[in-house]
Amino acid sequence: MKKLLDLITEEAAKAFLAAGYDTSYARVSVSNRPDLCEYQCNGAMAAKKEYKKAPIMIAEDVAAKMADSPIFEEVTAVNPGFINMKLAGSFVADYMKAMEADEHLSVEKTKEPQTIMIDYGGPNVAKPLHVGHLRSAIIGESLKRLGRFMGHKVIGDVHLGDWGLQMGLIITELQERQPSLPYFDEALTGPYPEEAPFTIGELEEIYPAASARSKTDEAYREKALEATHQLQLGRPGYMALWTHILNVSVSDLKRNYEKLNVEFDLWKKESDAQPYIPELVQLMKDKGLAHEDQGALIVDVKQETDTKEVPPLLLLKSDGSSLYATTDLATIVERKKLFDPDEIIYVVDKRQEMHFVQVFRAARMAGLVDENTKLSFHGFGTMNGKDGKPFKTRDGGVMRLEHLIKDINDEMFKKIVENRSVRDTEAQKTAEQVGLSAIKYGDLSNQASKDYVFDVDRFTSFEGNTGPYILYTIVRIKSILNRYTENGGSLKNGAILPPANSVEKDLMLKCARFNGVMENAYEEKAPHKICSYIYELSNDFNRFYHETKILSEENEAQKASWIALLDLVRRVLEACIDVLGFDAPERM
Ligand code: ARG
Repeated sequence: MKKLLDLITEEAAKAFLAAGYDTSYARVSVSNRPDLCEYQCNGAMAAKKEYKKAPIMIAEDVAAKMADSPIFEEVTAVNPGFINMKLAGSFVADYMKAMEADEHLSVEKTKEPQTIMIDYGGPNVAKPLHVGHLRSAIIGESLKRLGRFMGHKVIGDVHLGDWGLQMGLIITELQERQPSLPYFDEALTGPYPEEAPFTIGELEEIYPAASARSKTDEAYREKALEATHQLQLGRPGYMALWTHILNVSVSDLKRNYEKLNVEFDLWKKESDAQPYIPELVQLMKDKGLAHEDQGALIVDVKQETDTKEVPPLLLLKSDGSSLYATTDLATIVERKKLFDPDEIIYVVDKRQEMHFVQVFRAARMAGLVDENTKLSFHGFGTMNGKDGKPFKTRDGGVMRLEHLIKDINDEMFKKIVENRSVRDTEAQKTAEQVGLSAIKYGDLSNQASKDYVFDVDRFTSFEGNTGPYILYTIVRIKSILNRYTENGGSLKNGAILPPANSVEKDLMLKCARFNGVMENAYEEKAPHKICSYIYELSNDFNRFYHETKILSEENEAQKASWIALLDLVRRVLEACIDVLGFDAPERM
């Protein structure tokens, strides 16, 4: 469906033409003086030069022509040359009717669907998810859903970190603790026990212990580096251990992501890209891009126009082992081969930006992807505590994601139980749903690239710009709709009448902005724009709700119209929160 703004602009263009002016001046925008009008066109001011006429005269000519149009209720030319417009109620009601009849609620799917891969989540095997992983999961999931909503083919890949030093650390620590395990006996090549020699709980204790020791014990660190290298070379005992670590971790990770309503299409791992490394390195050498430097293989990626120093990319270490950048380049080769994407979007902490500058440049220089394949880095800022420092537990430790979610849910549970309308058996589930909205909306309502303060009290509030407030609004609408149908009413399409007052009209006009908002949010990869929109829409609805006695309205046609409008608002809100990655309960 065409956007309301485009329909108005078309109508304005007709008037410019009829009055003898060029249609390029007919651009209409939402009014920045809502007290005076709903839409405005400033084209007469711009046309002054070409027509050598006072803008007010041009505006008057055009306004006179616009007065004939059925879509306007009022058009006025105002000094120095504004054209102010109010829409006809019947036109707005017709737009609402078209919206409600459209199963995609007026949003047009793209005519050129692209294949887009989103690299997000990025957890590391054997390390529990902590708050640092939260943003990538939340933002990436939302971008994936938004892309799909606009009709693209979007593939979400968790890109598991399973190949770095953390593996060597765990192997080394395990060997210290249980040297007699068969995995460490070089004379053995298997078969190895089917059961892992640790539980997830033990694994989560082993890694931090190993990591801490490697920071003070140089020999230990050397051992871990060597173990990492041996693993990458495919030493059978280490490979068997790695498989155990992977299996134990992945099932735990899946459980955690499920709680966040985050779902990956692919559970690919850094190690999956390893087979592509030899050809990658060969290609880099053949093209003269990689050269040796103190035994290591590096690629110069700096450019003359750089204002900041861009260091060379490290392709191979002197012992031949691969690094983070090597894996990312090889993963591009793999993705190109398996999925041939039009774009790869990386949703990663913005502190990794330089890494991606290096990787993208090297990928382009080597021609790993076509020229028109986009490689996009969507870097996000840090989630801080109220003290402005990265979010920590009360005693200053790294906050595990599981604990953060639990804290929020407990807080929500308390609030919901205070609100006696919810039966206890539902309260736990409702608390989880509302809690998730608090976390996700709290994150997504900020521009992703900025740091933000994770404020539990504010995020869990039922009032203000929060997830729970949006859900509360949806629940309120649902309850009115339920009462209406329980009393024999039916939710039928096409019943919407012209707005009865300006508050209702505001609500309709806000509703009509939906398609434009979604298009723009997708263009700019900006879920925060969807958040602002639903906050405004919820406010407009609540204002309408407080001023209108909907269910006790005696005129049945009027009542049915309001109910139909409410149902439309509900559908728009629910479509939006689905894209944001959470959903609404029946009651709160
Ligand atoms: N596992 C990485 C980390 O914890 C993030 C991975 C991001 N994705 C990528 N393709 N490098 O820092």
